[in-house]
Amino acid sequence: MTVKKPMPGDLDPIETASRDEISALQLERLKWSVRHTYDNVAPYRAKCEAKGVHPDDLKTLSDLSKFPFMTKLDLRDHYPFGLFAVPRTQLARLHASSGTTGKSVVVGYTKNDLDNWATVVARSIRAAGGRAGDMVHVAYGYGMFTGGLGAHYGVERAGCCAVPMSGGQTEKQVQQIMDFKPEIIMVTPSYSLVIAEEFERLGIKPEEISLKVGIFGAEPWGEGMRHEIERKLGIDAIDIYGLTEVMGPGVACECIETKDGPVIWEDHFYPEIIDPETGEVLPDGEEGELVFTSLTKEAFPVIRYRTRDLTRLLAPTARSFRRIGKITGRSDDMLIIRGVNVFPTQIEEQILRDQRLAGNYQVVVTRDGHMDNLEVRCEVQRELSGKLSPADLQQIGKELQQRIKTIIGVSTKITVMEFDAIPRTQVGKAKRVLDERPKQN
Ligand code: DLL
Repeated sequence: MTVKKPMPGDLDPIETASRDEISALQLERLKWSVRHTYDNVAPYRAKCEAKGVHPDDLKTLSDLSKFPFMTKLDLRDHYPFGLFAVPRTQLARLHASSGTTGKSVVVGYTKNDLDNWATVVARSIRAAGGRAGDMVHVAYGYGMFTGGLGAHYGVERAGCCAVPMSGGQTEKQVQQIMDFKPEIIMVTPSYSLVIAEEFERLGIKPEEISLKVGIFGAEPWGEGMRHEIERKLGIDAIDIYGLTEVMGPGVACECIETKDGPVIWEDHFYPEIIDPETGEVLPDGEEGELVFTSLTKEAFPVIRYRTRDLTRLLAPTARSFRRIGKITGRSDDMLIIRGVNVFPTQIEEQILRDQRLAGNYQVVVTRDGHMDNLEVRCEVQRELSGKLSPADLQQIGKELQQRIKTIIGVSTKITVMEFDAIPRTQVGKAKRVLDERPKQN
């Protein structure tokens, strides 16, 4: 869409403040947040005591590196409410994220927390080019997942109209988009492709769809996927990042004028990048694990929470805040195949370099004796489906196999299938990896 430059009043003043002002605000809030957590969350206080640090030791922002980390394990160990910093009578809402194993992680919000959350999501929508008066189709799941409700209250706060569609019922999604004519959609990138495919099936062209912007997150997606979605829906695709433990969607969001990685709303979330092996803080620009400290959260503050997301901190561009590079993947998504580290997003990138291939894919890992084998299942675009000979499909597979071998360094078996052969995820995040290796204890 034609990118309107933000007008005075479109942005919160802190978004364009000087770095000195931002650092001063961060330090003041950080001192509050560390003390609040220390005073009210007994397991965190115990960790600080074990490490011999006290909130009084925090005199500069870099002193934060002396404090202990919080991890997903801490959340599991103190399930459900053991890390909350306010009595339950002050809670206004709970959310949870379903872990891949065991119990889910439960987080809580006070009224002020919900207010700040709506503020950062509204800011994210404006960063994506949305303005008061726009209609926003929300197809993130509503419920315990933070996506639906998190997006919803931000939409309302931005002065937009929320269409609380949630996930699933693809035909109805498409019908409503055609009937209501929203300008913006908020959904996972993988499900946006499912919606795009339904438009294609009905013969509706991108220029007949009212949508101008999509705000996509909750799962890793690369530049190839961005182009694929933009082409299929005729929109600008913007990256929004967040996680349950830190807040939900809206911890960071890209700006439409630059599309160069999500801007972290640094007045609420203080980022660090650490070496995942040693825990050392790395300088901006270096790739490592993203760590967040909440600066304003009351009910569920996090101090140095290890996200397991791998990325870099980048210098400010469209706003005064720093950005994150595209999330390469979570350290737990990383597959090690015969010694080579492989992220599903790297495979996605190679698939989408071939215009004949569609964006839906699956990576299947099996074990044959001691050898791990990687199979990549992908599909041809709808318009080619049924029109290519087995030899053509084989040739496409061969080319993809060579690209993956040369660029990622791993041998794969490629299966190029007809369009729609791979199951679509209707609700929530796409399941890209099927790990069929026997479990090791
Ligand atoms: O996925 C919150 C969210 C909802 C974000 C809607 C954006 C939009 P969780 O279920 O706790 O929360 O999962 C968080 O998802 O640590 C990342 O690994 C991944 N993730 C989230 N956003 C992105 C993104 C929500 N833009 C986990 N790019 C995070 C890559 C993302 N990965």
